[in-house]
Amino acid sequence: MKARHVFLKLIICFTSSNAARILGLFPIPSFSHQIVYRGLMKGLNSRGHDVTVVTSDPMTVSNLENYTQIDMSELYVPWKKVFNFAGSKDYDTHQKKFVSTITEVSENLCEIIYNNKHLQKIVLEHSFDLVIVEWLASPCIYAYSYFYQLHL
Ligand SMILES: *[C@@H]1O[C@H](CO)[C@@H](O)[C@H](O)[C@H]1NC(C)=O
Repeated sequence: MKARHVFLKLIICFTSSNAARILGLFPIPSFSHQIVYRGLMKGLNSRGHDVTVVTSDPMTVSNLENYTQIDMSELYVPWKKVFNFAGSKDYDTHQKKFVSTITEVSENLCEIIYNNKHLQKIVLEHSFDLVIVEWLASPCIYAYSYFYQLHL
């Protein structure tokens, strides 16, 4: 019942003439991940929505209106301590460990995101209609929307 209620609210939100304020939280500091969500967020922005994107790879040149980037390139610090994709030949043989390692390191990534003062200020000062998060072995990021009482 509750999920249906949220769904109806979203339909109203997206079909009315008012643009939505959307927060995108993309914790995995890897360009191949960030570029996908950049496309999504730019697409939503081009349809009139006001988007704020937490990314490890902000666009260096952006003149998009109502498109705010929060630079979280520091997410690369804990990530690079455990992953060295270019230098490793044996990730295929350690896939189980790979996923559990992402889950472990994602706790460090979440800590950085939750503790970012700039993001805290933005979230407290603006009311977001919706939060979009990356789903990848980083369950701690899902709680962000609950913490700030936002729709995930
Ligand atoms: C940006 O947001 C403002 C305030 O909501 C709105 O008036 C303006 O039309 C938006 N710009 C674009 C390009 O959508």
